[in-house]
Amino acid sequence: MCGIFGYCNYLVEKSRGEIMDTLVEGLERLEYRGYDSTGIAIDGDELDSTLIIKQIGKVSALKKEIAKVNPNRDVTFVSHCGIAHTRWATHGEPKQVNCHPQRSDPNNEFVIVHNGIITNFRELKTLLLNKGYKFESETDTECIAKLFKHLYDINYQNGHELDFHELTKLVLLEIEGSYGLLCRSSHYPNEVIATRKGSPLLIGVKSEKKLKVDFVDVEFPDESNLGRPETPLIAANGKAIHSDDNNITVTTNKKNPDAFLNGNGHSSGSHDDNLLPIAANEFNLRYSQSRAFLSEDGSPTPVEFFLSSDASSVIKHTKKVLFLEDDDIAHIYDGELHIHRSRREVGASMTRSIQTLEMELAQIMKGPYKHFMQKEIYEQPESTFNTMRGRIDFENNSINLGGLKAWLPAIRRARRIIMIACGTSYHSCLATRAIFEELSEIPVSVELASDFLDRKSPVFRDDICVFVSQSGETADTMLALNYTLERGALTVGIVNTVGSSISRATHCGVHINAGPEIGVASTKAYTSQYIALVMFALSLSDDRVSKLERREAIIQGLKLIPSQVKQVLKLEPKIKELCATKLADQKSLLILGRGYQFASALEGALKIKEISYMHSEGVLAGELKHGVLALVDENLPLIAFGTRDSLFPKVLSSIEQVTARKGHPIVICNENDEVWMEKAVNSNLETLEVPQTVDCLQGLLNIVPLQLMSYWLAVNKGIDVDFPRNLAKSVTVE
Ligand code: AGP
Repeated sequence: MCGIFGYCNYLVEKSRGEIMDTLVEGLERLEYRGYDSTGIAIDGDELDSTLIIKQIGKVSALKKEIAKVNPNRDVTFVSHCGIAHTRWATHGEPKQVNCHPQRSDPNNEFVIVHNGIITNFRELKTLLLNKGYKFESETDTECIAKLFKHLYDINYQNGHELDFHELTKLVLLEIEGSYGLLCRSSHYPNEVIATRKGSPLLIGVKSEKKLKVDFVDVEFPDESNLGRPETPLIAANGKAIHSDDNNITVTTNKKNPDAFLNGNGHSSGSHDDNLLPIAANEFNLRYSQSRAFLSEDGSPTPVEFFLSSDASSVIKHTKKVLFLEDDDIAHIYDGELHIHRSRREVGASMTRSIQTLEMELAQIMKGPYKHFMQKEIYEQPESTFNTMRGRIDFENNSINLGGLKAWLPAIRRARRIIMIACGTSYHSCLATRAIFEELSEIPVSVELASDFLDRKSPVFRDDICVFVSQSGETADTMLALNYTLERGALTVGIVNTVGSSISRATHCGVHINAGPEIGVASTKAYTSQYIALVMFALSLSDDRVSKLERREAIIQGLKLIPSQVKQVLKLEPKIKELCATKLADQKSLLILGRGYQFASALEGALKIKEISYMHSEGVLAGELKHGVLALVDENLPLIAFGTRDSLFPKVLSSIEQVTARKGHPIVICNENDEVWMEKAVNSNLETLEVPQTVDCLQGLLNIVPLQLMSYWLAVNKGIDVDFPRNLAKSVTVE
């Protein structure tokens, strides 16, 4: 999905060349998210002017465009704010005018980069067209830039010189939908605004001097300064602003919900022009200084800020970051970072902490690997270990999940557990559902987030809803989370990305600690989610004597997983050869699994589809005879999971049904399994042997050959493995 990057230097002299390089490099670190075009906005040569350079294609194409435009790289700036973007098209195809930054007018007075979707952009566009604004792109973002200018101009004409964040509050009152956005303006030189709603945004802080405090105060409107209108003031979008003793609330004006627009969706003339300056008066703010950025002697401190939708682009510069929350308006100017909110909410935090990231730069570099996906597959011995590190005591067979501990009694009392996720994360839930039910003795349902929402599935206060997500930002999962929160359920997050929306919005949870996953195809996150869920199930049953033996077997099984994964990785040469021979140029591939291995079949098929563009389907082996068997002949490539568990005889029979129809499956089986050794000789089938583990953990090992297979099928076809077409790493739109 789209990526945002911004860089502000204050009293740290930088040449334009250095600033552009920092922005472009920031974009390169966001490339993995998936995108189709790029752009930057920096100071131009004229006083307070903005230079925008953008291009469709990869960051390399942007570099060429910058070289073509050839701005003077040697000009230096003591203070400067630049913004940059990678775009994944939602409104309007990838073409240069649709790239971000989007602008308010040909003079680039307000320039925006934006992630997310503005749902009321058509109405806003109609209104702004009526006001005489000319649109050059098909994007929803352009409306925001023009709205900034429109509201700035009418307030200015009415004698109101708004602070940049006050203006932003007025703009945000008008826009609906989701956004993470940065705005810079020639009216506010060397200032930048960063704000978010439903789209991640963080700010890295780099300063030679130690920050005075490791938090930033949140600034609210000073209610004592507010005028008290007799009747509600109607803001531009038909929302009425009320004030009461303690807070300001924004509610819809029921009588005239379209106060800003007439019945045709057009502007109702002077309505907005008259009202907006009055609404602006509502936001007379207490002016404060940001404590973190105060120097001992009160003199200005040199500082750099790195704004991004993703920690991976900030980590090279600083590990000190602040995660913005929904509706925060960060205003950076004069070397200070201020966080504003439009209204004071009861119980809302008064500060945002500046945290220290534990991520290392090496974690987001490819190292000796050709692709991030390959690196991440090979990291699994380590990442699976990291998921368990400090949480499992293998000596005493006990589990300690700090983020869940206090909530376990409440979870144990639940009538049901609902696991909700998308894609690979959904498969990790399927893979662990049986052991969850077995150990917790609570019914577990597993839901695809989008379908769960489409059905408006009933949720009760005594439900436990578990949200599994690598990124912690997936829109469908996030919406489902909000839906369950509204209904009073207890929510648990199983998330990889620290500070992500899902990890912050859930009541409690577990970070899977797999480290940054850059490849679009989720690999190490799957195995770590799987382990985190198993540990969760083990924690739920640690008060049950009847489960003691089973729990011990699983915990001791987990201990061996990292080294067993390492062993499975040794299959790579054989898998590579199969991809180049038996599986080369095939159109379709069936993957059979049963019981615990049904999830492995689905996950393997998803990997193959998304990376190699080959059709692949995970089939429940028990369903074979109910239809899929019709596809089987001597030509159809088929993979079957034949590892040992209680369902082995049934799996064997399914595979025999395949070989009886001249099918030649590749069987993933346990090492030296006599049954398969014999069949390999007599029935012309291939085997891929993996170590044996406890039944509920076998999927952790069985998935690795399929990850490698999808990787080599894709590489052999010359596909850009880390950036498969049409896909994005973090799916932040519905
Ligand atoms: C997996 O390879 C995919 N890229 C995709 O299915 C992914 O798992 C899904 O979009 C959910 O993402 P999340 O884990 O970040 O929520």
